[in-house]
Amino acid sequence: MIPRQPEPELMLEPEQARAYAEADFAAPHEGFVDAFAETFPGPVSGPVLDLGCGPGDVSLRFAARYPACEVDGLDGAPAMLVAGAALMASHPAADRVHLSAGCLPDARGPRAPYATIISNSLLHHLHDPAVLWQTILRDGAPGAAVFVMDLRRPDSVAAVKALVAEYAAEAPDVLRHDFEHSLHAAFTPDEVREQLANAGLDTFTVRVTSDRHMIIFGRLPEAA
Ligand SMILES: C[S@@+](CC[C@H](N)C(=O)[O-])C[C@H]1O[C@@H](n2cnc3c(N)ncnc32)[C@H](O)[C@@H]1O
Repeated sequence: MIPRQPEPELMLEPEQARAYAEADFAAPHEGFVDAFAETFPGPVSGPVLDLGCGPGDVSLRFAARYPACEVDGLDGAPAMLVAGAALMASHPAADRVHLSAGCLPDARGPRAPYATIISNSLLHHLHDPAVLWQTILRDGAPGAAVFVMDLRRPDSVAAVKALVAEYAAEAPDVLRHDFEHSLHAAFTPDEVREQLANAGLDTFTVRVTSDRHMIIFGRLPEAA
């Protein structure tokens, strides 16, 4: 197994943010909402917190799927929120999606505690992964549904290069490099299980869902 190589936490560069916001993530992001719906069947209502929301594509797709919810997105990179303005402008669910700038762990979800918390592709950016689990414990309501999706680190440099060739060969340079760095920065499922145990969240499930993704989900403990 290759060692983890962290990447910069925040996606602050306007060119990087624009390329990310303009990329076609319809399949993985719709897949995120599908996987949430399979994991937590039934309606979702009230405020939902999307941690590391980036330009808001997942927030918008989630709000579109669940018309009785509002999504509060939080991201530490203003450039990503600016880049998302075009997505928001033309989207029918935009009036129920509220993105704001804030860096974890200092920033809080504005309507905490939340009964639903989601996060896509934030975990591998964090230099200290405990920040995600502590934020979820702090901002989640008792019994909250928590659903996280992230990349997982391949075994070898050759496996990283093969994934980049398969999924990003046609992508702009900046996105291809980001994807490669992200695969090196990602955690393995066992590393995530250890993080969860350290956070007291060992009832959560970690499941491999594709050659490069895993999902992590569970319910926060009910109040004593
Ligand atoms: C790969 S992007 C994912 C964006 C979005 N969730 C999506 O799926 O399109 C990761 C995002 O996490 C944000 N981020 C990284 N570290 C953060 C932190 N400590 N606090 C808040 N946001 C953070 C980055 O700025 C970036 O926008």
